[in-house]
Amino acid sequence: MEIKKVVVIGSGTMGSGIAAHLCNANVPVTLLDLTTEISIKARERIHKSRPPLLIDKSKIDNIKVGNINDDFNVVKEADWIVEAVVERIDIKHQIYKKIFDNRKDGAIVSSNTSSIPIKILSENMTDEQKKDFCITHFFNPVRYMGLLEIVKNENNDLKKINSLKVFCESELGKGAIVCNDTPGFLGNRVGVYAMQVAMTEAFKMKLTIEEADAVFGRPMGIPKTGVFGLYDLIGIDLMADVLKSFVKELPETDKFQEVAKEIPLVKKLIESGYTGRKGKGGFYRMKKLENQKILEAINLQTGEYAESKKIDLKIDTVDLNTIINRKDKYGEYAWSVISQIIKYASSLVPGITNKFNDIDEAMRLGFNWAMGPFEMLKSIGVKNFFNRVDEFKGNKFLEELSVKKDENFYGERQIYTEIETLGKVKPKALSLDKNKSAEIYRFKDFNIVEFTTKACALDYDSMDSLISYCMLSLKFLSKAPSGSSIKTN
Ligand code: NAI
Repeated sequence: MEIKKVVVIGSGTMGSGIAAHLCNANVPVTLLDLTTEISIKARERIHKSRPPLLIDKSKIDNIKVGNINDDFNVVKEADWIVEAVVERIDIKHQIYKKIFDNRKDGAIVSSNTSSIPIKILSENMTDEQKKDFCITHFFNPVRYMGLLEIVKNENNDLKKINSLKVFCESELGKGAIVCNDTPGFLGNRVGVYAMQVAMTEAFKMKLTIEEADAVFGRPMGIPKTGVFGLYDLIGIDLMADVLKSFVKELPETDKFQEVAKEIPLVKKLIESGYTGRKGKGGFYRMKKLENQKILEAINLQTGEYAESKKIDLKIDTVDLNTIINRKDKYGEYAWSVISQIIKYASSLVPGITNKFNDIDEAMRLGFNWAMGPFEMLKSIGVKNFFNRVDEFKGNKFLEELSVKKDENFYGERQIYTEIETLGKVKPKALSLDKNKSAEIYRFKDFNIVEFTTKACALDYDSMDSLISYCMLSLKFLSKAPSGSSIKTN
């Protein structure tokens, strides 16, 4: 089925982000909310957004706006209707009734819910309607986050789910991962678990938050906010709600329950308004002293703040083996966290997805990890892992691997994040020309210009390099005179 027109209902953070991104893909989209004024405000927010949600701001008027009472007719023409209203099941149910009373036959209807299972969302739908209903879980900010989880269940028309996946990949540029209807879906189930393990182990091992963030960061291929910095960024109160929902939805035997228990210090922080960066501060806070700003970090044992101390582990790149093999508390912490993440992620195969590769993709695209849990396992080495890991009873994936001990278990990596960066290709690229502001490389069939000035500021030499780049490109097409080189002024 072709998707030519889309309606997004709910013009808040996510609805406006989804509409803007559809506009980026030149897909006609209408944004509806309770009132047209709310949708107009949303469009204004899109226009002013930083980083910009629109690639080309002059296209803002391509996003049509309206309200759910006067303008619902647009739903009749849509091929895909995305619901992104508040996370309230009663409101969502009302919207679905209205959508299905109006949609054209076969149009896809999806919800952007972050926590409500399809089973509950679709409980009032007919079997025919259930076939076309799924969850499309975009991440915020929609334009910039590569991950899109398409959640399906046994009632879905899989052909249609697949055509939606293809559309979201090819037109919206997302890494669209199809997964089953389980709590937290795929990315958050593993990502939030990983954060909780990193946090609880830091408490247990009496690490400072700076120490934990230094380990659960760069050396493990995780963004340098680490765990406590990320908590502050997301919002400590929001994380508490997310955890409550996991605790409620997951079976008591799920390992997640062990790391999701309420921590008294976290409760105290929320109660006193220390909800993270949006509040008075969180695990870290900025103290203003006269004209100076001082970063402070909380002591996990006493709850007192003191000036934050930089931790230098002397590891500048992703280096799992070095960090887990250290004979100190950092090595012990790293191994404990990584091994638990690998054990948990592998215990979800095949329950959440039968493609373990998808879990890695979700962690790379949704959490900006350099590698997912299974790539971590590959990088540690299967034998090394099993020599050191404690029990993993009932974990089908690890039980099988422990018998086979296949170092090449991983197979082909999926395509979504196989993006070549200049950093990656430079060692293999041929340097064609350079001046003091730029260098030109040839890699496969591409000529590449790298600006080498500070902050890539453009000067006359940068412009000369572009002329040379064009000449060289033509030369490779055998159409240009030879001998072009960058002139310098
Ligand atoms: P939001 O609170 O920013 O926006 C919700 C919008 O829905 C508001 O504009 C509100 O006026 C509108 N609305 C409420 N009732 C309505 C109705 N009956 N008809 C039409 N519009 C109605 O919420 P946000 O953050 O955009 O979340 C939307 C959905 O996306 C939720 O299900 C949420 O769980 C999910 N989500 C949120 C993420 C986030 O980072 N904010 C990330 C991923 C999913």
